[in-house]
Amino acid sequence: MYSRQTPFLSRIIYRKQINDASAALPVFHMVLDLKNSLLQYSPGDVVAILPENASLIVEKLLVLLKAAPTMPIYSPKTKKTTNIKNFLLRSCNLSTLSPALLRLFSLDPTTFPKENFDILTFFQQFPPRSIPIQECVTCLLPLLPRFYSIASAQNQNPSELHLLVKSVAYYQASGLQKGVGSDFLCHRAEVGRTPIPLYIQQSHHFALPKDPTTPIIMIGPGTGVAPYRGFLQQRITEKNFGNQWLFFGEKEKQKDFYYKKEWLHLQEKGHLKLSVAFSRDQQEKIYVQNRMWEERSELFSWLEDGAIVYVCGNAKYMAKEVESTLRDIINTEGNFSKEAGKAYFRLLRKSKRYRLDVY
Ligand SMILES: Cc1cc2nc3c(=O)[nH]c(=O)nc-3n(C[C@H](O)[C@H](O)[C@H](O)COP(=O)(O)OP(=O)(O)OC[C@H]3O[C@@H](n4cnc5c(N)ncnc54)[C@H](O)[C@@H]3O)c2cc1C
Ligand SMILES: NC(=O)c1ccc[n+]([C@@H]2O[C@H](COP(=O)([O-])OP(=O)(O)OC[C@H]3O[C@@H](n4cnc5c(N)ncnc54)[C@H](OP(=O)(O)O)[C@@H]3O)[C@@H](O)[C@H]2O)c1
Repeated sequence: MYSRQTPFLSRIIYRKQINDASAALPVFHMVLDLKNSLLQYSPGDVVAILPENASLIVEKLLVLLKAAPTMPIYSPKTKKTTNIKNFLLRSCNLSTLSPALLRLFSLDPTTFPKENFDILTFFQQFPPRSIPIQECVTCLLPLLPRFYSIASAQNQNPSELHLLVKSVAYYQASGLQKGVGSDFLCHRAEVGRTPIPLYIQQSHHFALPKDPTTPIIMIGPGTGVAPYRGFLQQRITEKNFGNQWLFFGEKEKQKDFYYKKEWLHLQEKGHLKLSVAFSRDQQEKIYVQNRMWEERSELFSWLEDGAIVYVCGNAKYMAKEVESTLRDIINTEGNFSKEAGKAYFRLLRKSKRYRLDVY
């Protein structure tokens, strides 16, 4: 019912840094208000947030473009007219140059060093002069939604949606840049005040099994742990749940053990098997896949009992290494030939017992 075109306007009702203040990048737990939205989500679903650009950047751009904030801009995409301030705040990607902008300025998109510029530094170096502002701003790339795993279950929090968000920052030639979506959620949005436009994107591929007694193995380093908070809330509220095992990894135990109390509480009650890997607490790196390997015999017996394996987080490295470790565990513990091990894993995947949400 809500969509990118017609999002629900939520508010953040609670936000707290969840890692140590000295951590390189702050990570926040936050609660969004869904009251009066009739929005429904399931554990594993993601929320799409439509962020705003930083108003400071937009104000600097307006000065550079010599445009009044109220100047009307016609958007060929939406076929609507809005003022330029609103358009730059909510509709334009101000981080990345578009080929269309370069062509408008008679620059060659194939040779221009795009990565050294954002829109502000571009207009500083290439003032539009005789090029109409309408054309300058409508040829920018669109500002896209940002996706976040939902870290709560609605059966425990009927009118709330919880998130675990890392505030991203990176260096560019023009200096330190902040991630648009994460900076909006973690810093610029005011608790209780700023509207947060959002809609839900269902993740059928990453849902809990229908049968709550099915054992689940959840692998989620970093913010990849977020959906499992929702999984566990859902199953524990429904009761009659099967075995559940969480592999969590982060840099330092003292600084980055997100939701530590909740996991330890579940472990104490016998509701959760918890394996943690803190990569920087010792000389050599220890990752979740190292813990999986240490526990290979038990892990394989959970697979034999029909467990579903979930992997969430870094797609580029972590997910690949976790898969390779899982394959090694299957081959070793199952005493399989290479072909038989491959077939076991293929079946795991085919029967949707190996589920990924990696980004
Ligand atoms: C299914 C899914 C679930 C997710 N769940 C979570 C979650 O639970 N928690 C969470 O914190 N995140 C999650 N993410 C990631 C999240 O969607 C965002 O990608 C993240 O917050 C960064 O977005 P941003 O707008 O803050 O940063 P952006 O502004 O989009 O920048 C992101 C990165 O792009 C690079 N970059 C951007 N512009 C430039 C440029 N001009 N030059 C060089 N580099 C550039 C930088 O490396 C930067 O770190 C999820 C993603 C997906 C797809
Ligand atoms: N780019 C973005 O804008 C952005 C923002 C938020 C999240 N994300 C993505 O979300 C995912 C989670 O990010 P995150 O920052 O919360 O956590 P992360 O970068 O995945 O780090 C979490 C833990 O995983 C460890 N790790 C590093 N390489 C690994 C590997 N090959 N296998 C297993 N563990 C490994 C890290 O160790 P060390 O660091 O000590 O090596 C750290 O202890 C990543 O895909 C990340 O890129 C991206």
